[in-house]
Amino acid sequence: EKGGYATFMEKEIHDQPHAVADTLLGRTDAEGRLVLDEMSISEEQLNAVDRITIVACGTAAYAGMVAKYAIEHWTRIPVEVALAHEFRYCDPIVNERTLVVSISQSGETMDTLMAVKHARELGAITVSVCNTHGSTIPRESDAVLYTHAGPEIAVASTKAFLAQITACYVLGLYLAQLRGGSYADDAQSVMKELGGVPAKIETLLGQMGRVKEIAKFMADTRSVLFLGRHVGYPIAMEGALKLKELAYIHAEGFAAGELKHGPIALIEPGQPVFVVVPSPMSEHGLHGKVVSNIQEIRARGARTLVIAEEGDEAVVPFADEVIRVPATSPLLAPLLTVVPLQVFALWLSTAKGLDVDQPRNLAKSVTVE
Ligand code: F6R
Repeated sequence: EKGGYATFMEKEIHDQPHAVADTLLGRTDAEGRLVLDEMSISEEQLNAVDRITIVACGTAAYAGMVAKYAIEHWTRIPVEVALAHEFRYCDPIVNERTLVVSISQSGETMDTLMAVKHARELGAITVSVCNTHGSTIPRESDAVLYTHAGPEIAVASTKAFLAQITACYVLGLYLAQLRGGSYADDAQSVMKELGGVPAKIETLLGQMGRVKEIAKFMADTRSVLFLGRHVGYPIAMEGALKLKELAYIHAEGFAAGELKHGPIALIEPGQPVFVVVPSPMSEHGLHGKVVSNIQEIRARGARTLVIAEEGDEAVVPFADEVIRVPATSPLLAPLLTVVPLQVFALWLSTAKGLDVDQPRNLAKSVTVE
């Protein structure tokens, strides 16, 4: 049942090309237009939406943070991401023109369920992005958009995360298509490019040997930092979460632009820092800004582990290790850049002799508030 892999997590990491492909399957017609049969909310209601709030916890919330950048870019609808347990108790501003999108692999997370119920009481339209058929959160929502990642057994979420990002992108592009005009053009071209992502993940999975080696050498590491910017920022947070959960190592993710506002004080000789580099095609010169960050921390002795696109040579002079990912447009990059971070956490945990599938103190689904 582990498909020849030693752990469920390793298997699930390798399931990721399918998780993305299956989540895209059947959601476009012959002309490449999005069709969401399951979206049982009227177009009038969706067209009236003037604000989106994503509620989720943990890894699912990081998927939401990634989705915020994309949905706002494609639809120009303001998107807020709230941790479900905070949302419920913060007197949220929600009305019948608010689309509340919950993201949950299990569909049973009590914090997320309570947030959805609260949103409905306040009159919001609720959509559940969920991986588990027949679970509670979809039942308590107006509509559901299933992620088709297949059952996720390992406690730490991997393939569900990629499927959640994919499903949220489908939802965002669907809203863009409803808006029409140039928004709709975006929808078709991005769906097309998304279709090519599974093959890129497959390629990437085939070149993870060096990441496994790096992880093995780092079994004694006490702390690892992760930096990213734009969609790479939630990926940095996710990389840190995977390492905390699986290897019990102190880890923190930062927005790279925040470095100079404090965290750079943490850099001392030998400190390992993963940096998720934005695509050289990113707007506003973000790529060059992150390359400068790498240079700054390297000058202070950091050991820089740099995740950069194939062909991005600008990072090479400042990187102790360069981990390559296939080129994509900037908004799709998270579906690739997170993979080496998952693989790193898997093998570091294994190198420490820990139980990868069942980390201490954690349960797969958190059914208490
Ligand atoms: C991290 C992880 C958790 C879950 C979170 C939400 O690897 O698995 O952070 O993402 O507990 O769970 P779901 O998605 O089931 O609501």
